[in-house]
Amino acid sequence: MYQLRRIQEALGRARLGALILTDDRNIYYATGFMPTDSAAFITPQRAWLITDSRYTEDAAEKCGPGVEVLLNNAQHPLTELLSGLCAGVEGDVGAEAGKLSHLGFIGLERSLGRELTGADELINGLRAHKTREELETLIRAQRIAEAALEAVLPMIKPGLSERELAAELTYQMMRRGSERNSFDPIAITGAHTSMPHGVPGDGVIKSGDFVTMDFGCVKDGYCSDMTRTVAVGSATDEMKHVYETVLRAQAAGIAAAKPSATGAAVHAAGAKVIADAGYGEYFGHGFGHGVGLDVHEAPNASPKNSEPLGEGVVISAEPGIYIPGRFGVRIEDVLYITGDGCEDITKAPKELLIL
Ligand code: GLY
Ligand code: MN
Repeated sequence: MYQLRRIQEALGRARLGALILTDDRNIYYATGFMPTDSAAFITPQRAWLITDSRYTEDAAEKCGPGVEVLLNNAQHPLTELLSGLCAGVEGDVGAEAGKLSHLGFIGLERSLGRELTGADELINGLRAHKTREELETLIRAQRIAEAALEAVLPMIKPGLSERELAAELTYQMMRRGSERNSFDPIAITGAHTSMPHGVPGDGVIKSGDFVTMDFGCVKDGYCSDMTRTVAVGSATDEMKHVYETVLRAQAAGIAAAKPSATGAAVHAAGAKVIADAGYGEYFGHGFGHGVGLDVHEAPNASPKNSEPLGEGVVISAEPGIYIPGRFGVRIEDVLYITGDGCEDITKAPKELLIL
């Protein structure tokens, strides 16, 4: 999505003379086009995308207004072109220290012959606060994932393998307009569900299993992310109790999610429900993470985030209980933080389904 103006205004506020972007998502955010192995160079007044012949034709069509496309090739390497643009800049030049390796950052400084200023907070902070257009795109990505789930639910039967289920989720999302998966889908069953990020294998669904599906797609660059856990054939009272506890934990975190709440406070609200039910040791990850061009981005709703979330950010709400060797449950929605609370943009039902 094309957010060049927002970046240029932020450069002015940060008193930076220019910003170099090399991260694909950041380049897309700035220019409206997502090549690989490229760079964007942005000053408060002008912007360039430096890319190679694989992308120049597409870039000329897709870059937003005000972005000039420069071709890099063997005669004019990317760093030489960047160096030329830097030469005209008065003031500090920012770059994504957090996206480059230490060696990469130092190498860029060496090849440009100047020190660079870490500008991660500037770009991450902008990206965290979604515009209405970005929110609408995230919702479109979410609806694709939800429709795919609806199509897949009737296929969930004993004998279906985890791998087949993961493939179906991918296929059903692509049929509905997904550009790609936002991450490799997690589709796990039975005892595997106790592994929060278990990898789909050849194991098949059996009656009495929980099945956890954590998946999402990319639409116009923006990610969806959702998790549903369903039971097949039957569920024991203990499974039902764990499921209801996770659902209550999610509701508590959602109720706490508002602009003034810290990420840690939202996490604590959900974690308390799980701990009070006696399952505290079985919930080891954060309550949620930011979602946008990256499926994991700022801000986090985790114990490490003592900053208020702020208005307009998007976070996941994904508590879980994972009992090793037995079963696990996770339920994940995506929330948009509004002026006084939040809007749950995930509309798929959450009552326990026993298929
Ligand atoms: N939904 C995958 C994750 O958030 O890690
Ligand atoms: Mn997630």
